[in-house]
Amino acid sequence: MSHTDARAPIDLRTDRAHPARIYDVFLGGKTNYPADRAMAATVAEKMPSVQLAARLNREFVLRAVRYLAGEAGVRQFLDIGTGIPTSPNLHEVAQETAPESRVVYADNDPIVLAHSRALHVSSAVGRTAYIQADFTDPEAILASAELRDTLDLGQPVALTMGLLLHWIDPKDEPHAVVRRLMDALPVGSCLMISVFARELAGGSATLQDDFAAEGTALRPLTRDETLRFFDGTELIDPGLVAPHEWRPRTDVPEIGDPAAGPGAASAPIWAGLGVKK
Ligand SMILES: C[S@@+](CC[C@H](N)C(=O)[O-])C[C@H]1O[C@@H](n2cnc3c(N)ncnc32)[C@H](O)[C@@H]1O
Repeated sequence: MSHTDARAPIDLRTDRAHPARIYDVFLGGKTNYPADRAMAATVAEKMPSVQLAARLNREFVLRAVRYLAGEAGVRQFLDIGTGIPTSPNLHEVAQETAPESRVVYADNDPIVLAHSRALHVSSAVGRTAYIQADFTDPEAILASAELRDTLDLGQPVALTMGLLLHWIDPKDEPHAVVRRLMDALPVGSCLMISVFARELAGGSATLQDDFAAEGTALRPLTRDETLRFFDGTELIDPGLVAPHEWRPRTDVPEIGDPAAGPGAASAPIWAGLGVKK
C-alpha cells in the first residue's frame, strides 16, 4: 500500500458543488453536502434520467473491469477520475477475478483523498495506491512514486476513465493527454472511457451554465470527439455505445435493470473499451 499524504490539511470547499460529490448523490452515497445535493436536484430537474444514467455508468465501469481482469487477462489498472470510494471499488472487482491485480487510482478532488483509505484495502497478493493528481498533468501521474512502485509499465495496463473527460477544458487538450498516457503503455494495454454525450444530453446547455456558476466547466462530448480518444486502439465489440448496451450481463441482476429497457435516452453517455495496437 502507498498513498499521497492524507495528513495534510484538506479544504473540501463544501460551499461549492463538486462533481465527485454530485455523482455520490446520484449513486445513493452519503459523502456529499447541501451544495452538492442542491446541484444534484437542479441536474435531475433538467435531466430526469440522471440517477439511472449514473448507475448504468457505474455498472458499465465494473463490467468492463470484470472483462479486463477476466477475458482480457489484464492485471494492472490506472484509474483516473476515480470518484469517492463506493462499493464495490474497481480494485475489489478486479481482484475478485484476479487477486494479484494492481490498481493505481488518481483524482484531483480532496474529498476523494480524504476518503481514500477504502481504496487501500487490497487483497494480500495484489496492490493498490492512490495519487492526488490532475488528469491535465500526465507527466506527474506517470512519474509518481506511487505509480512506479505499483505498476510495471513494461506490461499491459488498463487506463480507465469513467465520466471524467467532459470535465476537462478543451484548452487542456484532453485528446493529447490521453495519447500521452497511452504512449507510456505497451501494446496490448487497454483504454476504457465513458463520457457525458453531447448528442444525447437534452438540456445540457443550461446545465453548463449551472456548473459554470459553481466554478466547474462541463463540456459534453460528441460521439466523434469521443471516438478520437480511441485512435491507435481497436475498439472491442460492441464499440462505442450507451453504457447499458456494452456487453450487458445476463447472469446476475444489475442495478439499472437494463432488461426494463431504459434506452439510450436514459443514459446520455458514450462508453467503450479499446485495446492498443
Ligand atoms: C463522475 S466521477 C466518476 C467516478 C468513476 N470514475 C465512475 O465512473 O464511476 C468524476 C471524477 O472525476 C474527477 N475529476 C474531474 N476532473 C478531474 C481532473 N482534472 N483530474 C482528476 N480527476 C478529475 C472528479 O473529482 C470525480 O471524482
